Amino acid sequence: MSFLSATLSRVKPSPTIAITAKAAELKAAGRDVIGLSAGEPDFDTPQNIKDAAVAAIAAGKTKYTAPDGIPELKQAACAKMKRDHGLDYTPAQISVGTGGKQTLYNALMATMNEGDEVVIPAPYWVSYPDMVLLAGGTPVIAETSIQTNFKLTADQLEAAITPKTKWLIFNSPSNPTGAGYSREELKELTDVLMRHPHVWVMSDDMYEHLAYDGFEFCTPAEVEPRLYDRTLTCNGVSKAYAMTGWRIGYAAGPVEVIAAMRKIQSQSTSNPCSVSQWAAVEALNGTQSFLAPNNETFKRRRDLVVRMLNDIDGISCPTPEGAFYVYPSIAGLIGKTTPTGTLIDSDEAFATALLEEVDVAVVFGAAFGLSPNFRVSYATSDEALTEACTRIQRFCASLT
Ligand SMILES: Cc1ncc(COP(=O)(O)O)c(C=O)c1O
Repeated sequence: MSFLSATLSRVKPSPTIAITAKAAELKAAGRDVIGLSAGEPDFDTPQNIKDAAVAAIAAGKTKYTAPDGIPELKQAACAKMKRDHGLDYTPAQISVGTGGKQTLYNALMATMNEGDEVVIPAPYWVSYPDMVLLAGGTPVIAETSIQTNFKLTADQLEAAITPKTKWLIFNSPSNPTGAGYSREELKELTDVLMRHPHVWVMSDDMYEHLAYDGFEFCTPAEVEPRLYDRTLTCNGVSKAYAMTGWRIGYAAGPVEVIAAMRKIQSQSTSNPCSVSQWAAVEALNGTQSFLAPNNETFKRRRDLVVRMLNDIDGISCPTPEGAFYVYPSIAGLIGKTTPTGTLIDSDEAFATALLEEVDVAVVFGAAFGLSPNFRVSYATSDEALTEACTRIQRFCASLT
């Protein structure tokens, strides 16, 4: 019998972190690797946010705080929910954690019982199914398809719901596809949820501000106010504010769930970094003026990558509404062979060969639960993206 927890045998390490580490290792060994696997903006944290952190240090705000966040940050989150979504929350309905990841994890730990099911549309962010498993629940994967631009349909949601369903995890714009649901598309899903009063929705709005071509972001509780009492809206400062290393996320929802999340956090990590919390107050309350120019840059990169990938025979790449990912299909390349004799029989084989043969790191679709695809993160320079896509074009042209 292993010394290790039996629960751990049910989960796998994050494949995106593993691939990013492998790319870094090859780079350290002198290879000219272009990494398109990491889910973080290449922009620096805005200066006003850094200044707020420096001021917090100077003012001695360096001690323990309340376990689930300082009142000022909870208030800033409430103001944000009102400003952006017209939704009223009080500080007692806000939980601040060490990154969006911790708040999602706490929420699942706080609510899962043996046998509880969680509907997760695929392709999904890699951590959702494993977090559900760690919390003792059962992930129920609802597969979408490229035909609906990877968006879950009402019928697919309806088919996935059982009497044991506890949550739907909803993520728009999505990691890994970038797909963003319009108000109408989301309303079709909330209509299904209205027919199933035992199902709650955990909305992961992490990429809310990263949206292009006039896409209007909306979140379930604003689209269907009657869902307010069974919605947990999760968000954070990591992506839009280029603050991945600061580790601040937050959730807004019913007091009972927020209190349960606080209990878990108080017995595990305690408060998120005090200095980061003050920086996040500035991120939410301060100027949002850098979002538009950043989005211009992301949009330009998205268009560049979509165009160059669609130029490849055998690859089909939808144009997503947001985030900084595209999720092209390689259905037309399966069964081909590389010049060194490797058979491309899966998206994992494709991504491995791409890294080994032309030094481009991407994440294979199986990691996100929908194949045969791969995820490109375009949060890197235009030059690197052009070079990476040129290499992918060359690699695909060399397949026979
Ligand atoms: C969809 C989604 N949710 C949550 C997170 C977690 O963000 P954080 O870095 O704040 O923990 C990520 C990060 O990659 C993500 O892509």
